Amino acid sequence: MSEGADYGQAEIMAGDAMVDILETQIAAIWPLERDLFGRYDAARVAESLVLDLGCGTGAATERLRELYPKALLRGVDLVEASLERARERCVQSPPQTEFTQGDAYALPYDDDVFSLVVCRHVLQAVDEPTRVVDEALRVLRPGGQFHFLVEDYGLIHFHPAPGVDLDRFWRDGPMRAAERTGGDLRQGRKAATLFLERGCSEVRVDYMPLDTTRDREGLRAVWRNWRTGYEAFVLEHGDLEPAFATACWDAMQAVFDAPEGHACWLIPVVSGRKGT
Ligand SMILES: C[S@@+](CC[C@H](N)C(=O)[O-])C[C@H]1O[C@@H](n2cnc3c(N)ncnc32)[C@H](O)[C@@H]1O
Repeated sequence: MSEGADYGQAEIMAGDAMVDILETQIAAIWPLERDLFGRYDAARVAESLVLDLGCGTGAATERLRELYPKALLRGVDLVEASLERARERCVQSPPQTEFTQGDAYALPYDDDVFSLVVCRHVLQAVDEPTRVVDEALRVLRPGGQFHFLVEDYGLIHFHPAPGVDLDRFWRDGPMRAAERTGGDLRQGRKAATLFLERGCSEVRVDYMPLDTTRDREGLRAVWRNWRTGYEAFVLEHGDLEPAFATACWDAMQAVFDAPEGHACWLIPVVSGRKGT
């Protein structure tokens, strides 16, 4: 989401459809992601300062509060309306949780202060992901840890999908639309390199398999809200013919409806430490 964008991802990020998308995403993903947080120092060290960068409506911040009851949590996001929702849902836990309006390209925090920076579903949606990574590392203390969930739409598969080319759908639809509005839906595969290039240590990628054999209804709900939120956006900014796009969305829906159908969204989480 580029700061100057007046249409496109900026509009989607601030819309009501995004609220539903974020809720269904975290409901399905958190059972797979939660255990990853146990390995960070913030799980053991009281008063660790933890940042949720691009916190949106606070869906993850609220859950981090439960995992790290002794931590001092900070959430930052560009969109004030999302922060209002975040404050409402975390109202039970002041003063340890604070939400601030701010830009991931110029975070409103001093250097070297956070023990852990969490950043979920953001890096693929910005036009300069390197600036977000540089800012995250600037505010992390030396030896501090990061947890970046970064989407990659090349890691989504549906079977069977007779008569439609879903590879083309993803490439000429969502990926192309993101390119034109300030995003890179292949960012998931690139994120580990960004941290390795910056001298980070213990860099590893964990792939969370959100699939129909584990949680058919959770993934179906994500898809329903993606279609509601993104269908018009993808048509407007991508290179798909409307009839082809509709056939592809319908084919994916049919995979959820058929008991033998299988769909998988493989979601990378890149973690590691600042410095050696
Ligand atoms: C897909 S949402 C993810 C929200 C949250 N991290 C979650 O997991 O539910 C992406 C968020 O990044 C925020 N965002 C995008 N560009 C930003 C920027 N330059 N600075 C701060 N936040 C930004 C959006 O406003 C949006 O809330």
